Amino acid sequence: MLKFAPQKCKYMYDNNPTLLSLDKEINEARQGEALYFDGIISDGQKRFYIESYGCQMNFSDSEIVASILGEVGYSPTRNMEIADLILVNTCSIREKAEDTVRKRLEVFNQQKKSKPGTMIGVLGCMAERLKSKFLEEEKLVDLVVGPDAYRDLPNLVATAEDGDKGINVFLSREETYSDISPLRLDSNGITAFISIMRGCDNMCSFCVVPFTRGRERSRDAFSILSEAEDLFQKGYREVTLLGQNVDSYKWENPETKKIVNFAELLEMVALVSQDLRIRFSTSHPKDITDQVLYTMAKHENICKYIHLPVQSGNSRVLELMNRTYDREWYMDRVSAIYRIMPDCAISSDIITGFCTETEEEHQDSLSMIDWANYSMSYMFFYSERPGTLAAKKFADDIPENIKKRRLNEIIALQNQVSLRHNLADVGKTFKVLIEGNSKKSENDWKGRNSQNKMIVFPKKGDLKPGEYVFVKVHNANSATLLGELVN
Ligand code: SAH
Ligand code: SF4
Ligand code: F3S
Repeated sequence: MLKFAPQKCKYMYDNNPTLLSLDKEINEARQGEALYFDGIISDGQKRFYIESYGCQMNFSDSEIVASILGEVGYSPTRNMEIADLILVNTCSIREKAEDTVRKRLEVFNQQKKSKPGTMIGVLGCMAERLKSKFLEEEKLVDLVVGPDAYRDLPNLVATAEDGDKGINVFLSREETYSDISPLRLDSNGITAFISIMRGCDNMCSFCVVPFTRGRERSRDAFSILSEAEDLFQKGYREVTLLGQNVDSYKWENPETKKIVNFAELLEMVALVSQDLRIRFSTSHPKDITDQVLYTMAKHENICKYIHLPVQSGNSRVLELMNRTYDREWYMDRVSAIYRIMPDCAISSDIITGFCTETEEEHQDSLSMIDWANYSMSYMFFYSERPGTLAAKKFADDIPENIKKRRLNEIIALQNQVSLRHNLADVGKTFKVLIEGNSKKSENDWKGRNSQNKMIVFPKKGDLKPGEYVFVKVHNANSATLLGELVN
């Protein structure tokens, strides 16, 4: 579920003009969802095209951007060729993520040559990290907008429309966009993200996020609640509460002065409806409390799945990483999860080849995968990021071939553990929320169980996306469960 690996928005593949109608596309958008115009001949309306990379927070931010742009007359298109404004919401987490964006900027600049006047904007973390450097580089970028400056987009776009460059990379201590109703992009109408906080106050030594996203701040709990209620009214059946460290969510009600913590927020959202599933990401091992775990256990609709990134299984490396927990602490949290919710699935993020990591320390990461029994993991080799604590303090001294070999070992083991985890589900029956057709066949539905596992099963009867069904698993591979509907 967590998509921290740099990702392309699905709709960037959809812009083959030969496949697109000349007329305004009638897409079945509901109120609050993007109505795309992808035709070849524009109707004079101003259009923006947006690609998003990086984590779910970025995808969620693009929906805020879409909403703000809508207010000044820009509507979305999936066809870059008719766009007046091309935006890329960027990620800086690893060097590769930035390289991808640079390549996309070259493509956008080619497009600009065939449609002069097209504006190109860089949003998000890379905009924040590189600031005016984007404008100094020879590449034609008209707008540079950091994650806390999206309210300024109407002014910045107007500046660019006048032929000047627009830049705002101010990081705020307060901005949470709590009053902005996101325009759901590329929505399946069933699952949606809700941003509950922004920024990060942890200083993991490898991580660029505190520099690109600024200080941690929590969003008004009641605005989160009304967003969840609104989504439920519109037919959505699952919300994912997003933050870099959701367990440190803390909002003070200005009237009562009462503090709402993450466990309390979870409960508030869970009470919207029994039929609204709640997920959240990301949990930090140092902050996840038993109160959160008991709240999850108490409510059937809070999904039994926790993304709990370990980063390394070795205490010395964790200390260098400044994660502020050690192997034992992490194992205690995992044990508490399985004790309080025996059916809970846990996933992780792991970095290989961090500064000075030895072979034995790498073995500790491998043994953690097996011990914690992760259902899946996002795995990376260490990429030094300019300005981070690690870049300042430690040499990036593990050769790339060793980092990659260790990464391959981690991936191979995780695949085995995922397969074992999935095969253990064979014979079990799960409640599944239907999300849509399976990728491979229109005759099959796909959906997830509470543990966030994708289950594919043949269609039968009169069902539709958004409905809950019971599915008995009869087979599995390391990524997917295969099953049959049960009555
Ligand atoms: N807030 C989340 C992580 C956000 S970044 C948390 O604390 O868990 C997503 C993942 O990218 C991280 O968990 C980490 O595994 C990876 N990552 C971050 N910086 C990295 C770097 N410099 N090199 C390689 N991977 C990195
Ligand atoms: Fe980065 Fe650490 Fe914050 Fe996660 S908790 S965003 S890894 S600094
Ligand atoms: Fe990337 Fe920024 Fe998210 S650096 S991972 S898009 S917070």
